Amino acid sequence: MIWNLGSINIDNFYEVPHLPAPGETLAAHSFRQGLGGKGANMSVAVARAAAPISHIGAVGPDGRWTVERLMEYGVDTPHIASIDVPTGHAIINVDAEGENNIVLFQGANVRLTEAIIGAALSEASPGDTLLLQNETNGHEYAAVTARSLGLRVAYAAAPFDAAAVERMLGRIDLMVLNEIEAQQLEDATGKDLPALGIADIVVTLGAEGCKWLSGGDKRQFDAYPAKPVDTTGAGDTFTGYLVAGLDRGLRMEAAIDLALKAGSLMVARRGTADVIPDLKDIQDEFDT
Ligand code: RIB
Repeated sequence: MIWNLGSINIDNFYEVPHLPAPGETLAAHSFRQGLGGKGANMSVAVARAAAPISHIGAVGPDGRWTVERLMEYGVDTPHIASIDVPTGHAIINVDAEGENNIVLFQGANVRLTEAIIGAALSEASPGDTLLLQNETNGHEYAAVTARSLGLRVAYAAAPFDAAAVERMLGRIDLMVLNEIEAQQLEDATGKDLPALGIADIVVTLGAEGCKWLSGGDKRQFDAYPAKPVDTTGAGDTFTGYLVAGLDRGLRMEAAIDLALKAGSLMVARRGTADVIPDLKDIQDEFDT
């Protein structure tokens, strides 16, 4: 079972001719709204990868529909609190080349209490996984509690914040981050990644695939060919599939392969949680 302490956002997508410059007013070609947030995206990816998932989070009165949608997608939702604070939201501009920029309003995502997190984790069992990102509060409490209960802790260090990541060192078993974030973390700590004391680190490399660092070893995995139209949520899809694969008992190599396949399909789709591919999509595309 995977317990995901994660953000839930209302994603507002604007297709724009180019990413807006400072002071520029720009007309969008289109507008769409959907379910998002790095946390919700990862929960949906885990569910689509056929692993059991319970989301720990919070929404306001404007976001009740996001909880219903998570439920429809197969995510357990009893530990999503309804509080009197607006739901988190994101303004996502995507240009003709598929590049994006994102403005976040954190809202209810950073109003979680130890009582909400603790109540959820009290239902966890040794061997379960706690998944975390950087869009909620409460990571340290959750990681320490989870470890004391015998859970494995997986952490996607996004959006990247060196100080937040440094506070998590010594409390995580698996970390996922991209190449730029990896460099920032090495600069901030003055240590190479293998010296950080994390059992498994996966560094995503975009079109180059990813590398896996473990116990002094390093392995490179090529990406699958893709036709990117929108990279938003592709990293979340990768991480959700990776953690789901491990939870289902796959070896790291097989879980990474599955995650790379899911990521390559995701970049060819516009949107976030609502369009994450499922295992059948992967079988159809890769004949596995
Ligand atoms: O990683 C993509 C996500 O980042 C979006 O869904 C948006 O909500 C932001 O959290």
